[in-house]
Amino acid sequence: MNIDLIKKYNRPGPRYTSYPPATSFHSGFTDADYKKHILKSNTDEPNNISFYVHIPFCSKMCLFCGCNTSLLKGDDVVNRYVNAIIKEIETVSNLLDKNRKISQIHWGGGTPNSISLDYIEKIMNTFQSKFLYTEKAEIAMECNPAYLEFEDIDRLAEIGFNRLSLGIQDFDSEILKLVNRDSSKHPVNELVNHMKKAGFKGVNLDLIYGLPHQTVESFAKSVKQAIEISPHRLVTFSYAHVPWVKVAQKKLETYGLPNPEEKLAMFDAGMQLLTKAGYVAIGMDHYAKPNDELSIALKNKKLHRNFQGYATRETTAQVYGFGASSISQLNGAYIQNLKSLNKYMESVEAKGFAVERGYEMTDNEIITRDVITNIMCNGYFNFTETANNFNISDKKLKEILEFSEDKLKEFIDDDLIKFNGEALEIQNDGFLIVRNIAMAFDPLLETSENKFSKTV
Ligand SMILES: C[S@@+](CC[C@H](N)C(=O)[O-])C[C@H]1O[C@@H](n2cnc3c(N)ncnc32)[C@H](O)[C@@H]1O
Ligand code: SF4
Repeated sequence: MNIDLIKKYNRPGPRYTSYPPATSFHSGFTDADYKKHILKSNTDEPNNISFYVHIPFCSKMCLFCGCNTSLLKGDDVVNRYVNAIIKEIETVSNLLDKNRKISQIHWGGGTPNSISLDYIEKIMNTFQSKFLYTEKAEIAMECNPAYLEFEDIDRLAEIGFNRLSLGIQDFDSEILKLVNRDSSKHPVNELVNHMKKAGFKGVNLDLIYGLPHQTVESFAKSVKQAIEISPHRLVTFSYAHVPWVKVAQKKLETYGLPNPEEKLAMFDAGMQLLTKAGYVAIGMDHYAKPNDELSIALKNKKLHRNFQGYATRETTAQVYGFGASSISQLNGAYIQNLKSLNKYMESVEAKGFAVERGYEMTDNEIITRDVITNIMCNGYFNFTETANNFNISDKKLKEILEFSEDKLKEFIDDDLIKFNGEALEIQNDGFLIVRNIAMAFDPLLETSENKFSKTV
C-alpha cells in the first residue's frame, strides 16, 4: 500500500456518511418539520421504506465504544423504552402511505440482543401489522456474540430476521479483556454455521483494529480466523479514538494505543488477506463475497449507502429511525432524535415524536448528494447521466457542484482517477483517498470546514 500517498492526502474533511454531514443538522428543525417531511416522503423517491430501531443498552460497556449506548437498565425502564418506540412507530406510520413496502429493517445500538427477544418480537409485530415487505427485504440485527445462544438464532429467524451481524472485534480474549469485553459465549464458527442452517442469507462479522496490545500480526491472525469462518460479509473498523466525546476511551491511552503507521499496516494486512481470500472490497472497510448482492451492485455501479451501512438499489429506501439518537434519512431531510434516553421517552410519551435536530435539503443539495454518494460507493460518476436523471443540463450541474477541472488535477497526476471531461472513474489506490475525491465535488466544503474548525 502506498503510505506516502495516504500521508499526502491526510487532510481534515467530512466522512460523507451523509451529505450534508451531520455537523450541519440544527435544532431549528422541529417535530412539525419532521411531520411535513414524512408526508412529503410518500411521494418522493426511493419509494420503499427502511426502518431503523436503536437499542441503547449493553450488558457491559466496552472501553473503546463510540456508539450511543449505556449499561442495561432494569426491566421497568426497558419496557417503558419499548413502549415509547411502539408509540413512535404508530405516530410515524399514521402519516405513511400504507401501499409503500418495507425493503429493509435494521436493528442497531447498543446491543439489540441485550433485551428480551419478546420485546423485539413485539416491535417487529407492530411493523408487520402495518406494512407489507418487498420480496428481497433485508431484516438485520447487530448482535453481541457474548450473549447469543443457539436458540436465540432460531427465534430471530422465526421473528423474520434474515441477516445477522456479530461484533467480534478481535478473537484474542486477552485483548478483549483489556477493553472490558467478554468473548463469544459459543465458538463463533458454530454460531455462524447455525445461522446458515437456520436460513440466514447474510452473516456479517465486525472486526476493529487500533486497540491496545493489537499488533499487525495479532490482527492478521484475527482476520485469518474470520476468513476460515467464511461469513458473507466482513467489516474491519478503524478504531476511532475520541476521548473528548467518549471519556471511557481515555483509559485505553494508559495501555498504549498503536500509532498511525501501525494502524495503517493493520488495515493493509486485513485488505491483503481478505482480497486474497476472494472477498471484494466495498468502500474503505467493508468486504463481501463476490456473489453477495453488495459485490454485484458495486460491479454494476449501483451501490448506495445510509447510516446503517451499504445497500443495493433493491433495498435502498427512505429511512425512518426509531429510538433515542436514531437518524431518519428522507429524500428531502435528515432528522435526529433526542440522544438522552429519559428525554426521548418523555418526549414520545407526551407527543409521539422526539426530534432533537435535523436538516432540510435544498434541491441543489439533493443533486450534490447523488454525485457524492456515487463517488463514495461506486468510485464512479458521469456528468451527463446525473444531469439527465435530474432533468438539468451538464452546464447547470457543473454550476451546482461549483466544478472546475483544476480540482481534479492532483488526482489525475497521481494516477488515482481517470477523467475524460464527462465521466470520472477511480483507479486502484484512489479508493484509499475517496473522501478527498468526493470533496472536489462538494460546494459546501469551505463553509463546512469552517464549521468543523469552530467546533474543535
Ligand atoms: C453497535 S456495535 C455492534 C453490536 C454490539 N454492540 C457489539 O459490540 O457486538 C457496532 C460496531 O461499531 C464498532 N465500533 C464501536 N466503537 C467503535 C469505535 N470507537 N471506533 C470504530 N468502530 C467502533 C464495533 O466494531 C461494533 O461492532
Ligand atoms: S461495542 Fe457494542 S457491546 Fe460494546 S459498548 Fe459499544 S455497543 Fe455495547
